[in-house]
Amino acid sequence: MSTLLQQQDPQFVKSTFTAIAARYDFANHLLSGGLDYYWRFRVARLGARHAQQRILDLATGSGDLAIALKKACPAASVTAADFCLPMLAQAQRKGVPSLVQADALALPFADASFDLVTVAFGLRNMADWKAAVLEMRRVLVDGGHLIVLDFSLPENPAILSIYRYYLHHVLPRIAGALTRSKDAYQYLGESIESFPRGLSMNALLRSCGFHCEPSRAMTLGIVTVYCGMAIGPGGVNLQS
Ligand SMILES: C[S@@+](CC[C@H](N)C(=O)[O-])C[C@H]1O[C@@H](n2cnc3c(N)ncnc32)[C@H](O)[C@@H]1O
Repeated sequence: MSTLLQQQDPQFVKSTFTAIAARYDFANHLLSGGLDYYWRFRVARLGARHAQQRILDLATGSGDLAIALKKACPAASVTAADFCLPMLAQAQRKGVPSLVQADALALPFADASFDLVTVAFGLRNMADWKAAVLEMRRVLVDGGHLIVLDFSLPENPAILSIYRYYLHHVLPRIAGALTRSKDAYQYLGESIESFPRGLSMNALLRSCGFHCEPSRAMTLGIVTVYCGMAIGPGGVNLQS
């Protein structure tokens, strides 16, 4: 098995998602027991609370969060970007309109083009988390918001040990059989272990120019939503 560092190589990530694109949604909904719809709904509702007009859903994959955002914010324009064409093809099949093939580390958008950037289960897969968050900050207006939804680990030690067994031993077998790509799901567990969570994630967002709300853990802490407001020069929110 390759190391996590190798696996976060963009080529590895792209080919992994290319391999599982056709069965990604099916595996997602089945393995989460449908909870993934609820997690994205919570993000979309949080996004709507900030009354957004121009939204970028980054690492949109098969587009489920872009769809939820459009429902929650019908007046907004939602741009959905990803660097993996087969994943974007799934989104297109589901009617997601504004699809852009783009690398999150070098976005083809001008500074301050969006009021809200969302990224669900995507940042963890990027080669350089800080560079990616800085790029998200660049395309946000001052006072705009970034919402990150990603896997985390339960705080409760008993739940954590059961969850780790599921994550590293059960899930790769089931998902591997469903998608014929066991490696992708072995990688999922490893990437969750090494991804910043809770206060560490908020520290990362702060270091990239965001003022953070307290993070919101959901479903026993297996996923967490982070929300940061882009701070203007001198630490001032210039929009309000
Ligand atoms: C686990 S999927 C998440 C898809 C979707 N956001 C969801 O909630 O189901 C991760 C996605 O991140 C994309 N991705 C990873 N690194 C990326 C990068 N550097 N730039 C753009 N997309 C990237 C992958 O292509 C993949 O579609």
